[in-house]
Amino acid sequence: MQRATTIAQIRTYVAEARAAGKSVGFVPTMGALHVGHVSLIEAAVRRCDYVVVSIFVNPTQFCPGEDFERYPRPFERDVELCERHGAHAIFAPSPVEMYPRKSLTWVTVEKLTEPLCGRSRPGHFRGVTTVCTKLFNIVGADVAFFGQKDAQQATVIRRMAADLNMPLEIVVCPTVREPDGLAVSSRNQYLSPQERQEAPVIYRALRRCAEMLDSGRRNAAEIARAMNEILSQVPSLQVEYVSIVDAETLEPVDQVRGRILVAVAGRLGSTRLIDNIVVDIRATEGIMAPR
Ligand code: PAF
Repeated sequence: MQRATTIAQIRTYVAEARAAGKSVGFVPTMGALHVGHVSLIEAAVRRCDYVVVSIFVNPTQFCPGEDFERYPRPFERDVELCERHGAHAIFAPSPVEMYPRKSLTWVTVEKLTEPLCGRSRPGHFRGVTTVCTKLFNIVGADVAFFGQKDAQQATVIRRMAADLNMPLEIVVCPTVREPDGLAVSSRNQYLSPQERQEAPVIYRALRRCAEMLDSGRRNAAEIARAMNEILSQVPSLQVEYVSIVDAETLEPVDQVRGRILVAVAGRLGSTRLIDNIVVDIRATEGIMAPR
């Protein structure tokens, strides 16, 4: 596996792959890789001839007071995981390589970045869209792979790529869950043993939603109420939102119809957890989305 820390190096590697007629896949990450990332790398390896994984804890997407400093950085373990799962190159730039000067140029997606996580993380999505644009420009992949767990991020990136005619396809892969339903996340390692036991309550609330939809209930307020009741079984969970929104526009709906995103965010101690399901009321199989 090739390792690049500079933009020039990764461009050379990708140019060589292209010259050999290979298609290029890209998995952007902030490291601390887990089975969710592995599923993205494997999807990329199945689809593309040459796969680049970036490992970069992007400072511009952390808000003041967030966990930028303490974000886990198990670099050698990450490299080993990329290699084991078939990645062809990693791109692990330094902050100075990515941001050599104070940036005067930002990429902002309007509207979609305002609700849900946008409310409590001002500037977060601007950091994500800007770094993804830079990474897309640097790597020059045909396809980039994102996880459904970060549903709003995936929607925002898809829209950005379409609005700006970016010459790459965005593929969104299913959320990977622990056996008890907790969505895997690099931040789960912050949870204390007690919090780890409590965290699957979010999945149970999403399942309750799926069950209600399965039994024909369509009223969003009623479903959100039932979900909140389940979430209240863990008093230490500070619920940030339970939102039932159109999967494309992220606007709230009164009645569940078409493709809908049901998203939850909350804090257990110092750990912020998010999870979601996407349901499609026209395709009944889609309703039981969490597994
Ligand atoms: O999802 C993430 O890990 C990050 O937001 C991303 C896409 C790598 C950009 O820094």
